[in-house]
Amino acid sequence: MSAAPPLAAPSNLPRHIAIIMDGNGRWAQRRQRPRVVGHRAGARAVNVCVDYCLEKGIATLTLFAFSSENWRRPADEVGSLMHLFLKALEREVGELHRRGVRLRFIGDQTGFGRELRERMTEAERLTAGNGRLVLNVAVGYGGRWDIVQAARALARRAAAGELDPETIDQDRFADALGLAGLPEPDLFIRTGGEYRLSNFLLWHLAYTELWFTPCLWPDLDRSVLDAALAVYAGRERRFGQITGNSDPTEPGYADSEHTDASELHRSGRVGGDLDLRGDVA
Ligand code: FPP
Repeated sequence: MSAAPPLAAPSNLPRHIAIIMDGNGRWAQRRQRPRVVGHRAGARAVNVCVDYCLEKGIATLTLFAFSSENWRRPADEVGSLMHLFLKALEREVGELHRRGVRLRFIGDQTGFGRELRERMTEAERLTAGNGRLVLNVAVGYGGRWDIVQAARALARRAAAGELDPETIDQDRFADALGLAGLPEPDLFIRTGGEYRLSNFLLWHLAYTELWFTPCLWPDLDRSVLDAALAVYAGRERRFGQITGNSDPTEPGYADSEHTDASELHRSGRVGGDLDLRGDVA
């Protein structure tokens, strides 16, 4: 495939999708195979998902590949996952770069081996100039960890006299998080049939539309993603405001074609004086 620019995304398409890729282990168990076989199949499903986003012109995709809690899995499974990540980087980064994908890794990588960390840094450096799709891979990531590391970073700057604590608002806080500079996810997908956020992107999912599917991650195909986008397109996003007002000059106006959570925050229409007499999303 060529590194052509994305097709213009229709306004009812999410600009940013965040996914918990769950169900690799069960997929393997159902086939009486070791769990690592499920993770390998899961890596193939990552390619399906990236292809789909490129084709649809979705600008940002964030995948939860390894949580801070995943360190508690048996050592051989953790080792297999690390090996899989390393091999996936070796195999895929060149092609992702050629197709205009920018790779970013978010999370606490201190527990990862030197070679893997170097590969991640090198992939980020190589692809830093790409703008067709930003692919964030969350590894060693936890939403609470992210919030704590942001608080620490801001506190350090305040203690050094570089930052007035009174100037810390939601935008400045978000800029200290792993996904700094990116819009918040419009759509969250979790495969595998569980209904949990599992400590993923706790700050960023405040106004995200949530969609859960029993499909196990390795079984992911275009029809599953089509179904998610169809549901998303039918959702009304109100960002805490009242519904039914299509006049942009009126305070209750909330139109997903023209607004998103970060724009509303920037404009002060969320987090400021809200009229809470109507429905609260
Ligand atoms: C959850 O399934 C999945 C993981 C902990 C690992 C995710 C990893 C991949 C999809 C493979 C490769 C990823 C990249 C980015 C190259 P689970 O093991 O918890 O499944 P279960 O709930 O059925 O046990």
